[in-house]
Amino acid sequence: MQNKDLANAKNAKKDEFYTQFYDIEREVECYLDYNPDVFRGKSVLLPCDDPEWSNFTRYFAQNFDRLGLRRLVSTSYAIESKQFKVSLRTSLFEEQSPQYDADKSKTHGKIFILDSDQTGDGRVDLDDLKWKYLDGDGDFRSDEVRRLRDEADIIVTNPPFSLFREFFGWIMEAKKQFLIIGNMNAVTYKEIFPHIKENRVWYGESIHSGDREFAIPDEYPIEASGWRVDEDGRKYIRVKGVRWYTNLEHGRRHKSMDLMTMADNRKYTKHRDNPKWRFAYLHYDNYDAIEVPFSDAIPSDYDGVMGVPISWLDFYCPEQFEILGITAGRDEFDKIAWPTKRYINPIQINKDGSKSNGSKANTRATILLDTIPDDIYYIADNAVCPFQISYARILIRKRK
Ligand SMILES: C[S@@+](CC[C@H](N)C(=O)[O-])C[C@H]1O[C@@H](n2cnc3c(N)ncnc32)[C@H](O)[C@@H]1O
Repeated sequence: MQNKDLANAKNAKKDEFYTQFYDIEREVECYLDYNPDVFRGKSVLLPCDDPEWSNFTRYFAQNFDRLGLRRLVSTSYAIESKQFKVSLRTSLFEEQSPQYDADKSKTHGKIFILDSDQTGDGRVDLDDLKWKYLDGDGDFRSDEVRRLRDEADIIVTNPPFSLFREFFGWIMEAKKQFLIIGNMNAVTYKEIFPHIKENRVWYGESIHSGDREFAIPDEYPIEASGWRVDEDGRKYIRVKGVRWYTNLEHGRRHKSMDLMTMADNRKYTKHRDNPKWRFAYLHYDNYDAIEVPFSDAIPSDYDGVMGVPISWLDFYCPEQFEILGITAGRDEFDKIAWPTKRYINPIQINKDGSKSNGSKANTRATILLDTIPDDIYYIADNAVCPFQISYARILIRKRK
């Protein structure tokens, strides 16, 4: 297999990660804390779901009355269309329904709708879900699911990992409110970062560190550590760097960070033994900004531009900081205020004198520091360059 095919196959496997009830509940409750009426009278769409297993459907159906929803629509993707083949058995629920159709069962998506009390018990909940087969396979890009998107007020899901950019664009083009879960590094995508920068999208409130557990299909090949099987035989995997993405307001994003002066940071930092600390507050060579390798080291007494790690977005309060751009070869870097010097094809000279190519991602807009450390350095444009920061950095400035 070509590298690209291998990468696609790897990503397609991650398309079948199912979100835990607790993670959904914990996140949605944050928006309710901020505004108890956030879902009142609203129509919520859960695309890329599988309502028979999905905790998204379970959570929103169980809480339909409490949230004051007008309508809940959930759609699933046909088993035959899935890239990573899962042998999901047809559920008893489906087989025992009068509308069950063996021909359509594997090739068509399904739509589940909840909008009224069908059982007559005075509540709207899971038991009141109505369902039918979709005309097509339930692809979110199909006309019929696109129409459901256009009718919805809020879109909530864990979209397929391999189509995250496309799914994100699909929501943004419809200008909908949304709450979706994905990898934290997706902020660096050129399709996503401009929205983060302009405060049209931000991280959610409840996940800020560590890893989260997702249910996976039985046939998922477990190569990595961090997985378990529960008492019912269901497999779970732990995934690092997960974040919610949203444009729903929550309270955390309006809380400012507490900052110390640069001198106090130098004195009291807990990062002293971390090799990244030696670059703290050094000025970049090709950009008018300083390096701040840890979010909790942002100095209170520096008014210029600072390069901070992506995880700083966990603390981002738009009233406290503005975002100017991002490094790591993204176009946004070039578009902001200062012209940047480019270092083409940097070559890394390792400790032992051997050479390796500099990271491709950094060749377009490499950030270089103004000191030469004694272990590794770079040669680019046939000149010795001081040092390359190989992590993406978000460029920020304190608001006055
Ligand atoms: C990451 S899983 C999440 C499922 C569910 N939302 C959850 O969290 O429990 C994404 C689902 O989207 C489905 N999917 C993949 N490609 C799709 C597409 N083009 N349109 C709709 N769904 C798709 C996958 O088969 C998978 O079931």
